[in-house]
Amino acid sequence: MAFQIPRGTQDILPGEVERWQYIENTAREICKLYQYKEIRTPVFEHTELFQRGVGESTDIVQKEMYTFQDRKGRNITLRPEGTASTVRAFVEKKLYAQPAQPTKLYYIGPMFRYERPQTGRFRQFVQFGVEALGSSNPAMDAEVISLAMELYRSVGLKKLKLIINSLGDADSRKAHKEALIAHFEPRIGEFCSDCQKRLTQNPLRILDCKTDRDHELMKTAPSIMDYLNDESRAYFEKVQAYLTDLGIDFTVDPNLVRGLDYYNHTAFEIMSDAEGFGAITTLCGGGRYNGLVQEIGGPETPGIGFALSIERLLAALDAEGVELPVDQSIDCFVVTLGDKPKDRSVSLVYELRKAGLTAEKDYDDKKMKAQFKAADRFNARYVAVLGEDELEKNMISVKNMESGEQKEISLQDLAAYIKG
Ligand code: HAM
Repeated sequence: MAFQIPRGTQDILPGEVERWQYIENTAREICKLYQYKEIRTPVFEHTELFQRGVGESTDIVQKEMYTFQDRKGRNITLRPEGTASTVRAFVEKKLYAQPAQPTKLYYIGPMFRYERPQTGRFRQFVQFGVEALGSSNPAMDAEVISLAMELYRSVGLKKLKLIINSLGDADSRKAHKEALIAHFEPRIGEFCSDCQKRLTQNPLRILDCKTDRDHELMKTAPSIMDYLNDESRAYFEKVQAYLTDLGIDFTVDPNLVRGLDYYNHTAFEIMSDAEGFGAITTLCGGGRYNGLVQEIGGPETPGIGFALSIERLLAALDAEGVELPVDQSIDCFVVTLGDKPKDRSVSLVYELRKAGLTAEKDYDDKKMKAQFKAADRFNARYVAVLGEDELEKNMISVKNMESGEQKEISLQDLAAYIKG
C-alpha cells in the first residue's frame, strides 16, 4: 500500500525549503533588532489551557482542535496557536519577575487546526508570532504592528493593507456587548445555531459570522466606536498617532472582530491586496490581550502580539511575483580524472568545507562529461579539475564559471584562491 500525506499538511522539499529558511532567518534578524527573544514551548498542551486561553466561544475551541487522551487519560491538544502557550510559560516560569520588563518574546513553529483545507488554509501550518508582555503603553502596540509590517517589507511585499480597530477596555466592551444583545436578541431566531450560542457567550463574534453576514441586522449593528469610553478612545488615538509617526498607512475598520476571545483595545490584521491572491487575504492577525495573563493564573499583566503564517506569506510573495534572493549555488565542484585523483578528492572537498566553502564532488564514478554536467546542476561558481598529471605536481586546474578564466594553482592554495 502506498502511503499518502494527511490532508491539509505539506512536505516542504529541498528547492522550496530554502524560501522558508530565508523567511525564518529574516524574522529572527528583525526580532533581534527589536529585541524580542525566542521562546520554544511544547507542540501539545493540556486541553484546558486553550479552552481558557483562546476561549470557549471561538471556532478554534469548538470545532478545530486536535484533542486526544494520552495513555493516562489526560486531555491533550496540539496547539492551535502560540499565545496561550507563551502566556502559560510566562506565568509558570515567572518571567514577570525578571528584571528586564516588558518581556518581549517570539516563536516560530507548527500549529494545528482541524479546518477545511483550501488555498492558504492548512491543518498544520507554521506561525511566526511575537508577544510583548508587561506594557500597556500604546507605543508597544505601534512597535508590535511595525515589526509585522517590517517582516513583510523586508521580504519584498508591497501590496499590503493594515486594518486596525479598538475593542476598548472592559467597560467599553461591556457597554457594547449589552447593545449588541439588545440589537440581536429579538430576532436571534433568524440566525444560525452558532450565532444563537454566541449571543450569550460572546455577541461580538456574531459580527464575524460567515453564514449570517448578509443579514440586515448586521449592517445596523451598534459599532464599538460609539461605545469606547474616553480612556479607550484616547488610547486608540495614541496608537494611530504613533503609526502615523512611523509612516505606516492603516485603515480603521470598526467591524474588525478577531476570532479569538482574549482581545481588547487594539486589534489588527494585515491583508494582501495583490490581485489573484484568492479568497483568504488575511496574512497576519493580532491585538492586545490585557487580562489574559490573569486568566491563565498570573499577576495582572497587559500584553499584545500577533501571529502570521509562513504559508500565507509565501502565497503573497507568489501573488506579487516576488522572488526571494535565495542562493542555490555552491562555491566549488571538484571533477576528477583517474583513480588517484578520485581518492584525493575525498579529502580535498573535506578541506574546502573546513575552510567554510560549499563544495561537492561526484560519488558515482561518472565520466568527465557527466561530472561537468553535475557541476552545472549544482550551479558551481568554480569547477576544480584534478587529473593524474596535476596530482603528481600537487596542482589543480580551476575554472571560474562566470568569467571563464582558467588557472592552474597549487592544491594547498585552492580554498584561499576561491575565497579570494
Ligand atoms: P489567528 O488570527 O488565529 O491569530 O492566526 C494568525 C495567523 O495565522 C493568520 O493571520 C494566518 O496567517 C495564520 N493562520 C491561521 N490559521 C491558518 C491556517 N489554517 N492555515 C494557514 N495559516 C493560518 C492567532 O493565532 C493569535 N494567537 C495571534 C496573536 C498573537 N494575537 C496576539 N498574539
